[in-house]
Amino acid sequence: MNPSQKTPLKIGMIGLGTVGQGTYKLIQRLPQLEVVAVAVQNLEKERGIDDLDTSLLTLDAHAVAVHPDIDILIEVAGGVEGTKELLEAAIQAGKHVVTANKALIAQHGTELFALAKKHDVSLLFEAAVAGGVPIVTPLKMGLASNQIEEIAGILNGTTNYILTRMMQDGWTYEDALDKAKALGYAEADPSSDVEGFDAAYKIAILAGLATGHWVNVKDMTVEGITPITPREVDYAKQFGYTIRLVALARLKNERPDVRVHPMLVPNEHPLSSVHNEYNAIWVRGDAVGDAMFSGKGAGELPTASSVMGDVLAIVADLEAGNAKTAVGMVLDLKEPAVLQPIGETTNRYYIRMTTADEPGVLAALGTAFGNAGVSLESFLQLPNPQNNPHTSLMVVTHIAQESSVQEALSAIRSLASTQAVDCVLRVL
Ligand code: HSE
Repeated sequence: MNPSQKTPLKIGMIGLGTVGQGTYKLIQRLPQLEVVAVAVQNLEKERGIDDLDTSLLTLDAHAVAVHPDIDILIEVAGGVEGTKELLEAAIQAGKHVVTANKALIAQHGTELFALAKKHDVSLLFEAAVAGGVPIVTPLKMGLASNQIEEIAGILNGTTNYILTRMMQDGWTYEDALDKAKALGYAEADPSSDVEGFDAAYKIAILAGLATGHWVNVKDMTVEGITPITPREVDYAKQFGYTIRLVALARLKNERPDVRVHPMLVPNEHPLSSVHNEYNAIWVRGDAVGDAMFSGKGAGELPTASSVMGDVLAIVADLEAGNAKTAVGMVLDLKEPAVLQPIGETTNRYYIRMTTADEPGVLAALGTAFGNAGVSLESFLQLPNPQNNPHTSLMVVTHIAQESSVQEALSAIRSLASTQAVDCVLRVL
């Protein structure tokens, strides 16, 4: 194709924050595309774009969504309810839509996909999961013949950056979060990052792609990294583990096990070497075996790279007469998945307790675990040189059912020798 011979396709954008600016810059490189309108919330705000045409900026997002000239709407503003209405208006006006909005796709994807199908437009969302890492398209296309059995991912750059700084450099949680915000990794409200919901939306989308059934985040167990202290980070290192916020989808059962929580990842596991804002998704398919996808999961140009991959897929489809390739086809999700309750899931567990340092304590703990049917794999008691009456004990269990571990912990908490069960982390 000689792009100079064609009329540029017209793009409308909603949002010109970190990802929007990166997207605008990448569009400037492509002569076959032209931005004709950009909706922002503040016309005066300084943007990090040298050749920004400020005459394109408007406060009227709805006017951009239904702008008569645009072929493709790019939504990189975030938000759920109001943004959903904008996307619906765009789809009803016959616009193809590219979004980076994981909360919106995870919560309202099925309705939006149905609407896109009805109006014969594409609704693509590669940038919604894992920033710059292509994973939505590989699941839709390259791995389409597989039964996906399991997905384990590091899907949030902010928390991975925080945990990396805490583990490698001894930073405090607060300092690491401030730096992640300054680097443009965090969501506008970083509680979605640190409490695990950003990763939950992403794994729900991936599990939906893998199974064809919508996964409701409200049915998932979602735990964030706020309880992780520098002390746990140090102990994890002593045990040969790295702490990571892991998004899991175990899909072989009739009821999928989909959840997000911090985990101890053994140092020899590939996910333990995913550092800083990098994301990684390990996928097991029945035909492909194990496959791993990794790269920058947040930030301006990496996320814009995924947005533009979708835009260019739509451009290719439009050039082929609006035929839909496998990338451009909208999803057709079946009824919601019924998830396995967390109590029925099986894991290994790391447990740190503060107990009295006196005869019979270990025997009582062993009895509590044994009565619940939980077998211990390793055990560590830290030296107690000052004859402190209390000591720290760490155990790692063999694979056990979550409800059995909770039963053991409830018995342990009621022992007179137990001062506290300080930390319980599942082990990958
Ligand atoms: N806040 C997200 C993250 C950005 O930290 O991964 C990409 O969704």
